[in-house]
Amino acid sequence: MKQPGIFISFEGIDGAGKSSHIEALAAAFRGQGRVVTLTREPGGTPLAEKLRTLVLNDAMDPLTEALLVFAARRDHLQQVIEPALARGEVVVCDRFTDATFAYQGGGRGFDLAVLSNLELWVQAVPTLEGDFVRNPDLTLWFDLAPAVAAERLASARVPDRFESQPAEFFRRVADGYAQRAAHAPSRFARIDAALERDAVWQQISQVLVQRGWLGAAA
Ligand code: TMP
Repeated sequence: MKQPGIFISFEGIDGAGKSSHIEALAAAFRGQGRVVTLTREPGGTPLAEKLRTLVLNDAMDPLTEALLVFAARRDHLQQVIEPALARGEVVVCDRFTDATFAYQGGGRGFDLAVLSNLELWVQAVPTLEGDFVRNPDLTLWFDLAPAVAAERLASARVPDRFESQPAEFFRRVADGYAQRAAHAPSRFARIDAALERDAVWQQISQVLVQRGWLGAAA
């Protein structure tokens, strides 16, 4: 019998260390026989990847930026996420709408009410019983002090438009995540990203086991 799809997002400020754990979580699900769609935002489709390149590299005003990330999300949802969930797959997504609330809302100071409206329009999924707003079933929020994240990033790679922002920007982004988590406590699992890599994985695996999505040996 087909299992229900599961939608999991990873969130956190740049430098919080999500990447290797995203791969590990996908591997853990595959090890249990689940089909995993591993994807990211902005991006995940040819069109959305083009929008990602624009958003990460070209100067633009905050409304344009918000519209482009939501346009990319719309395409990603329709082309990749909804079909995968309908097939009963596990969708593991590197960032989703919480990033828009944290970066465009918190970081850029863009109007949260406008973002909420865009969220309702873009993520509406029609069903026979009426529309619902698609959001992840679980969000693993890598919480890390902005100063520590900045130190980790400094040696890592050539910074994009977001990574090159000042410390104050990341403090606002971190606050944006904290506010979003406070509004959806049952969806968010806070991961203490300051810990060693193995300890971070232990926290993730514990959350997944508690939800009954991974066996205790994961
Ligand atoms: P990544 O490097 O973790 O893939 O994320 C790309 C950058 O895009 C990251 O700095 C966060 C930013 N971003 C937004 O500003 N708004 C969004 O809605 C998303 C999904 C990402």
